[in-house]
Amino acid sequence: MQEIDTLIQNFLKDLGNDIVLRMSNSIKTGKKLRSKLILSISGENESSYRLCAVVELIHLASLLHDDIVDEASLRRGARSVNAEFGAKNALMLGDVFYSKAFYELLSLDKKIASIVANAVSKLAIGELLDVELSKSFNADKNLYLDMLYKKTAVLIEASAASAAILAGFDENDFKEYGKNLGIAFQLVDDILDVQGDEKTLGKEAFSDFKEGKSTLPYIYLYEALADKSLLLNFYKKELNGAKKDELLKLFARYEILQKCKNEALAYGQRALQAIQSYDNQKLNDIVENMIDRSF
Ligand code: IPE
Ligand code: IPE
Ligand code: MG
Ligand code: MG
Ligand code: MG
Repeated sequence: MQEIDTLIQNFLKDLGNDIVLRMSNSIKTGKKLRSKLILSISGENESSYRLCAVVELIHLASLLHDDIVDEASLRRGARSVNAEFGAKNALMLGDVFYSKAFYELLSLDKKIASIVANAVSKLAIGELLDVELSKSFNADKNLYLDMLYKKTAVLIEASAASAAILAGFDENDFKEYGKNLGIAFQLVDDILDVQGDEKTLGKEAFSDFKEGKSTLPYIYLYEALADKSLLLNFYKKELNGAKKDELLKLFARYEILQKCKNEALAYGQRALQAIQSYDNQKLNDIVENMIDRSF
């Protein structure tokens, strides 16, 4: 992973701008799940590292913009770029990361460049849909799943497909793997928002509902409740400890979080089915680690 961080740092140094470097240096390193995925498919070599660096830079750009949109002040256990340097700077730094990543993408296979670039359009549309769906309580699971596929799974799908191209494997098998893995991954992220604590997550907990995001736990609780107002009264509100406990009790009463986890596990199984003929234990471990995580 050090190799990838160095590549990213070199990309940024190329730009020859101190403001970019100063802001970038304030960003902590993440879990690098997308890189681990790529290296597990296409192995340790120069092209794989380059693909990882490009994807991580794109992912980072999406986080910078996401934290502005979600008004989040904590990321990877530190102040977010928008909190530290203001939303204007975070926005422009995100643009610098995106455009540099696209430039570096040019030196990879043209097919990979087109897959990754298309994924970023979908990711941005996914973020738009997320904002659209957060205008009022959304109880439609299909709309939620389509949004989540675009905002998160598409980049993971593109990473897996691109790595498969590098390795000479069937791109579609890995696309299917990445898509289902990506959906499982965001389902878990949405569960952790409800279940996790700020310190472990390194980002704000219990913030989705306040931001208007009716994620799967809330959709399932809505379906389970005869009196929907018990839930809707909490929507878009800043909740104190007692109110959070009330909500958590409702989740527990209807076994909502377990139901959501099972859904993530089912997507994980679908991911594994797609690549079972490759007999690659690392790909199984990735599914397990992406689902069974606490941050
Ligand atoms: C966070 O992604 C944003 C989502 C798509 C859920 P990660 O959980 O991969 O973030 P880092 O890179 O490890 O911080
Ligand atoms: C973010 O989803 C997805 C992208 C960055 C494209 P979230 O808004 O749930 O991610 P976190 O929880 O802030 O990491
Ligand atoms: Mg967010
Ligand atoms: Mg968001
Ligand atoms: Mg989240």
